[in-house]
Amino acid sequence: MSTQRHRWRRFLNFLTLFFFFIRSSSSSSTSQPITSNRPHLQFPCTPPHHNSYPFCNTSLPIKPRAQSLISLLSLSEKIQQLCNNATSIPRLGIPSYEWWSESLHGIASNGPGITFNGSIQSATSFPQVILTSASFNTSLWRLIAAAIAVEGRAMYNLGQAGLTFWAPNINIFRDPRWGRGQETPGEDPMLAAAFAIEFVRGFQGENWRVGAGIGIGFGEKRVLADGDDGGDGLMLSACCKHFTAYDLENWGTFTRYNFNAVVSQQDLEDTYQPPFRSCIQQGKASCLMCSYNAVNGIPACADKELLQTARDKWGFKGYIPSDCDAVATIYEYQNYAKTPEDAAALALKAGVDINCGTYLLRYTQAAIEQGKVEEEDVDRALLNLFSVQIRLGLFDGDPIKRQFGKLGPQHVCSSEHKALALEAARQGIVLLKNEKKFLPLNKNKMSSLAVIGPMANSTQLGGGYTGVPCSPKSLLDAFQAYAKKTSYAAGCLDGVPCYSNAGFIEALSIAKEADFVIVVAGLDLSQETEDHDRYSLLLPGYQMALVTTIASVSKKPLVLVLTGGGPLDVSFAEGDSKIASILWIGYPGETGGKALAEVIFGDYNPGGRLPMTWYPESFTSVPMNDMNMRADPSRGYPGRTYRFYTGDRVYGFGHGLSYTNFTYKLLSAPNKLILLASTKAESRKNMTQQRGYKLDYIHIDEVEYCDSLIFHVSVTNNGDMDGSHVVMLFSRVPNFFKGAPEKQLIGFERVHTISYRSTETSIVVDTCKHLSIANEYGRRILPLGKHTLMLSDIEHIVSIETQ
Ligand SMILES: *[C@@H]1O[C@H](CO)[C@@H](O)[C@H](O)[C@H]1NC(C)=O
Ligand SMILES: *[C@@H]1O[C@H](CO)[C@@H](O)[C@H](O)[C@H]1NC(C)=O
Ligand SMILES: *[C@@H]1O[C@H](CO)[C@@H](O)[C@H](O)[C@H]1NC(C)=O
Ligand SMILES: *[C@@H]1O[C@H](CO)[C@@H](O)[C@H](O)[C@H]1NC(C)=O
Ligand SMILES: *[C@@H]1O[C@H](CO)[C@@H](O)[C@H](O)[C@H]1NC(C)=O
Ligand SMILES: *[C@@H]1O[C@H](CO)[C@@H](O)[C@H](O)[C@H]1NC(C)=O
Ligand SMILES: *[C@@H]1O[C@H](CO)[C@@H](O)[C@H](O)[C@H]1NC(C)=O
Repeated sequence: MSTQRHRWRRFLNFLTLFFFFIRSSSSSSTSQPITSNRPHLQFPCTPPHHNSYPFCNTSLPIKPRAQSLISLLSLSEKIQQLCNNATSIPRLGIPSYEWWSESLHGIASNGPGITFNGSIQSATSFPQVILTSASFNTSLWRLIAAAIAVEGRAMYNLGQAGLTFWAPNINIFRDPRWGRGQETPGEDPMLAAAFAIEFVRGFQGENWRVGAGIGIGFGEKRVLADGDDGGDGLMLSACCKHFTAYDLENWGTFTRYNFNAVVSQQDLEDTYQPPFRSCIQQGKASCLMCSYNAVNGIPACADKELLQTARDKWGFKGYIPSDCDAVATIYEYQNYAKTPEDAAALALKAGVDINCGTYLLRYTQAAIEQGKVEEEDVDRALLNLFSVQIRLGLFDGDPIKRQFGKLGPQHVCSSEHKALALEAARQGIVLLKNEKKFLPLNKNKMSSLAVIGPMANSTQLGGGYTGVPCSPKSLLDAFQAYAKKTSYAAGCLDGVPCYSNAGFIEALSIAKEADFVIVVAGLDLSQETEDHDRYSLLLPGYQMALVTTIASVSKKPLVLVLTGGGPLDVSFAEGDSKIASILWIGYPGETGGKALAEVIFGDYNPGGRLPMTWYPESFTSVPMNDMNMRADPSRGYPGRTYRFYTGDRVYGFGHGLSYTNFTYKLLSAPNKLILLASTKAESRKNMTQQRGYKLDYIHIDEVEYCDSLIFHVSVTNNGDMDGSHVVMLFSRVPNFFKGAPEKQLIGFERVHTISYRSTETSIVVDTCKHLSIANEYGRRILPLGKHTLMLSDIEHIVSIETQ
């Protein structure tokens, strides 16, 4: 199917280019008003001919509008809506609509819905998500998503983007080799859930809904959605993907297309599902994408129970697309369906509303004729699809006459957005090692600097799903602004893969000359990306040799900068005193170089913390296809992520240093929490007591009212630099529960601190949600008794009891 996929992509690309060509002939310079750039654009429901249909009537509620449109379509017209490039319906004035646009960390070029070939030719490239996650700053996440949405809306107004975007990627970064771990917020379900909520709220226009159109440089402050849709209006549509247990690209004989993820109910409940549940329940995402892989034998896009859980239990309102060609894989790779028609029918029956790809387009008609699926199933899909489009204002006429219509080229790559991208990189960068306070370097005494490494002069700093950055700069460019005498050598002449050491001689000679040396090593997309997992956690090729050789000749210990989204085994560097400092910069986006230089020269005090465990190379003996989170000593299985992994680590989850150090003082936290249990729990308690035991847990759905817990703490900055610090609160459940995590993150807060002063902060913990664990049957239980709350070296006991 890979070739079919490629052929299809190539065809799409051709069409896209063709389309651009036609468009660009009529577009011109950016200084003109939006209208003059877009005479070629068509929108549904435009006067005089096409605005009188009920589906165009903004006074009507969403559902009747959608139903009215469905009622006007023939079966074949309906089926032609079931692919990402939905076919036009000229008799109703509806042009084709491309559902597939991408916006993981900025408007990306991956989806065919985006073109950078109009009056907007670039968009702000924020750091890749894994680095932004390392900031542990929820307001930053929200602002970034809101900024991307402003740029997306502006591009839509000019016909350069759709309204439906397939981000965020919130799968758990379960295995360090995963090529797309970089796209995610990391390995912790609570952290990933928090990121998902902020991203979706910011992206779908929550900031507008509350009347705070922040940071976009124009004065229009209107509440989102003026219709009578009860606040259902959307600025853009965000998509929680990939549902679920998707985190393997291509490892051994396993590919994401044929993989069957065997997942225990316990792991599903407390690792794989929480980000999705939060993305839907609190984020209120309007899209949920099902993944290629099967879960316990059933392809995700054919799994009715899985998809219905989201609608029935989590209150999902939106549309469900398949990942691209994931309906075809049900038949072609998973061999789950007997015929293509079966695959189409299974997907529609399971709750898939639209297929990225052409499979439903090709096989739905026959599937209906063969009685495998009914027209009502197609109608249900269309109701979900059209409802989202109506919420987005697609059927409200020309967008520039509507809300967000003023957004145009001046709102893309704005100085505010570029400043936010810089801020994100600063906040995310993690200081992993800093022996004898080698960093920061004194910028006033910077005589000569050598910058070495295959990524140092690259402007490709966005990672996967990058678009066209506004003003891409390399890391080297930024260093040159600090040190006039900066020399550079790639060291690895072929780039990051570094198959040869032929470039070492030049690198060594500049290293010997310079007073200070920075080596930039690590990964790029040649090592980790979509469809490509790693087999080793070591630096690629000769990179490790480059670092140690340079370290052995440089005048002073060197600074090692690591790029890439996946963890690296750099224990050689951690243990080498000739390598004074190590920084991880992920994929820092278009302004990442400036952020890095500010950190190295002390203009910014680093405060990022690792959102994933860094494992030693020996971890690669663990089969990547083993989805179990929990360790199993009986078969030598070490478990995964800081919550369950029992082996050695290079750097732990949450590791990250600062130029100052911090101490905590607990100000207040409850010693006891008494829950109001339901009568069901009470009778279970009585029964347990009659048998002479004490009730030691309660199902969280048996709690009538769940109090939050407030942990009030003061953070003292004991150094001479101000800086932000991430307070991370963990907990351990009482006594022994089978499969309980070592500890789990239950709250975090990034706080700004002033040199030699104390700052107070509070962490509010949702007791039922975060102090609970999943039992072996995948049911959430709240253990009763003593829970240990941990903040660095402070331990506080809170006893949870029932009335
Ligand atoms: C739109 O719907 C409202 C409410 O039903 C109705 O009063 C109005 O006449 C409709 N407008 C048009 C143009 O049909
Ligand atoms: C989508 O399909 C329409 C025809 O229905 C075509 O004109 C357009 O170029 C296609 N768009 C893309 C991006 O393939
Ligand atoms: C459109 O994009 C292609 C490649 O992406 C480029 O070669 C071409 O010059 C662009 N055309 C215009 C008019 O900008
Ligand atoms: C860095 O890369 C740019 C663009 O590829 C190139 O023009 C420049 O000469 C390089 N800089 C150095 C110092 O090699
Ligand atoms: C549990 O026992 C208490 C006292 O023994 C009694 O008052 C209460 O009604 C019982 N509750 C249930 C639900 O059985
Ligand atoms: C914390 O910083 C202070 C002031 O710079 C220093 O005296 C102290 O040794 C540091 N403590 C640790 C544990 O690093
Ligand atoms: C969190 O991010 C926002 C947006 O960049 C910033 O204003 C704020 O200072 C950050 N908070 C901390 C404590 O760093």
